[in-house]
Amino acid sequence: MKKFLFTVVVACVTVGIMAQRADYRIIPLPKSEATDTTKVFVLRTGMGIAYDATNPEIVRNATFLQEWVKGTTGIELQLTPADKKAAVHLSIGLAADKKAKKGKKALVLTPQQQEAYAIAVDKDGIQIQARQPIGFFRAAQTLRKTLPLNARPSADNTVDFPFTQIQDEPRFEYRGAHLDCSRHFFKVDFIKRYLDVLALHGCNQFHWHLTDNDGWRFEVKALPELAEKGSWRDQSPLRRAGLWDGTPYGGHYTQDECRELIQYAADRYINIVPEIDIPAHIYSALQVYPNLRCDVQHQRGSDQVLCAGNPETMTVLKTIFGELCDVFPSKFIHIGGDECPKVGWQRCPKCQAKIKELGLKEDGKHSLENQLQTWMNREMGKFLSERGRDMIGWDEILEGGLTDGGLVMSWRGTKGGIEAAKQHHHVIMTPTDFCYFDYYQLKDHDRQPPAIGYYLPLSKVYSFEPLDGIPEEEQQYILGVQSNLWTEYVAYPQHVYYMLLPRLDALSEVQWCRPDQKNYEDFLTRLPHLKQLYDRIGVNYCRDIE
Ligand code: ACM
Ligand code: ZN
Repeated sequence: MKKFLFTVVVACVTVGIMAQRADYRIIPLPKSEATDTTKVFVLRTGMGIAYDATNPEIVRNATFLQEWVKGTTGIELQLTPADKKAAVHLSIGLAADKKAKKGKKALVLTPQQQEAYAIAVDKDGIQIQARQPIGFFRAAQTLRKTLPLNARPSADNTVDFPFTQIQDEPRFEYRGAHLDCSRHFFKVDFIKRYLDVLALHGCNQFHWHLTDNDGWRFEVKALPELAEKGSWRDQSPLRRAGLWDGTPYGGHYTQDECRELIQYAADRYINIVPEIDIPAHIYSALQVYPNLRCDVQHQRGSDQVLCAGNPETMTVLKTIFGELCDVFPSKFIHIGGDECPKVGWQRCPKCQAKIKELGLKEDGKHSLENQLQTWMNREMGKFLSERGRDMIGWDEILEGGLTDGGLVMSWRGTKGGIEAAKQHHHVIMTPTDFCYFDYYQLKDHDRQPPAIGYYLPLSKVYSFEPLDGIPEEEQQYILGVQSNLWTEYVAYPQHVYYMLLPRLDALSEVQWCRPDQKNYEDFLTRLPHLKQLYDRIGVNYCRDIE
C-alpha cells in the first residue's frame, strides 16, 4: 500500500497535476508583504478575471495576466470583465488612498507612486488594486513571478495562493537598461524580447545606443546614405588578435521599425531613450560625409570627430535630431558627448576660428576645446527644448561647464553625478564599477564568452547604493539607475542575455527596493526561481555566481 501511495505521488509530481504553491519572495522584492501561509486560495482553469473593459490599457494588462498565467502554469483563466464573482479582480484605486483622502485635498503623486499597486489574496480570490493602469501591469508581472515552475504547463494544474497583502511601488523614477546596437546590430524581434526581459524586471527606460564608430543604425530620410552606407563596415575585428574577419557586416532600423518598437515598449510601460552619439564616436557618419570632419591629416578613424567650426555640422545635426524627435516621443533624448578626443579641434583652423568667434576664454578650469563642446551641447539643448525634450549626455558634458537643463549620465564613477546633483541637475547613475555589463562576471575568463575586460560580479552589482555621497537635500536630483551593455564582443542574442542576466536581477533590486530591504544572501535564495523562468522562456543567463 505504502509503495502504491509513493508511486501515485511520484506520478502526480512527474505529470504535474499536484497543487503547487505561489511564492511571493520574488525579484525585485515588493515594498511590503504580509502572508498567512496557513490559508490558501486555489486558482484553477475556468476561473475569471474581472476588470474595466471600457479602458483598453486595462484590457491589455488583463490579457497579459491571462497569457502569463497560462504560459507559466497552463491554467486557463477567462476574461470575464463584468463578473462580480471572478477569482481575480482588477480595480482602480488603492484602499490606503481612500482612507487617507477622507476630508483631505487630492494627493499629488510622484511618478513612482503612480506605479503603485496592491495585491490581496483571501478566500474570495485575488484582488489587484492600482492607482493607474500601469499598476496592473506591475502587479501582473509580480503574480507571474510568484507562480510555480516545477510542473509542466497543463490546464489541469492548480496553484495554491497563500493569503497575503502585498503593497508595492518602485524606489526610483528612472529604471533603465541600455543596449549598444552599433558595435553589433540586433534585429527588431530580438529587441522585443530584450524589452520583455526589461519589463519583467520593472525597468521603464530602454536606452538605445543607435550610432557609433562601427555602424549607423537609424534611418534619416533626408540623409538616406547614413543608413544605407554608414550602417555597413567591410569587416570586424577578431577578439584581441589584431586580426579581422574579412566579412562585411551591417544593418539598420527603418523609422517604421523604430515606431513599431516604441509602441511595443510603450505597451509594456517602457520609454525608449534614443542616443545619437556626438561629436565623437561618429566615424560611421564621417565615412559617408567626410566634409563634416575636421580637416586635419593623419587621424585614426576613431579619433575623427565632427568639425564644430563647420556651419554645415549644426545644420546636419539638426536634420538628424529633428527626425529623431519626430520618430521618438521620449522626453529624454541622448546626445552622447563621451570620449571626444580634442586633438583634431586643437589643430583644425575652422574649430579654432569658432572658438575666437564665440569669444571663449581660458578660465583655468575648462579648456577652450571643452568649452567648444559645451557650446555644441547648448545648441543641441536649445534645439531639443524647443521640441519639448530634455537633453541627456554622458558625464563628459560637465567638462566644459554644464548646459542648462541637461541631464547627466554618470558613467566614470559617481563623481560627475554627485557634482551635477550639487548644481541641481538631474542625474542617472550608471558607473562602470557597478553598472557595466560588458565586463566579465567571473574571475576566470576562460569559463566565459568574450567580454571587454575588467570584472563585475553579481555581488558587486547588488551592493550599489546610488545615493552614497549625495547630501540629503540633493538626493531628489538622482532620477535613477541604469545598466549599460556595450557590444564590441557581444554579437548574438544568447550572449547578450548571458551578459545581462542575472546581473539585471541584482540591479533591479537597486532600482526598485529601499536599501533597508536589500540583503544579498536573501536575494540569492530568490534567484533560482527566476532562473527557472528564464529556462522556461528560453533566455540565457550566467549559471555561476560570484
Ligand atoms: C561610455 O562608456 N563611453 C559612455
Ligand atoms: Zn574642426
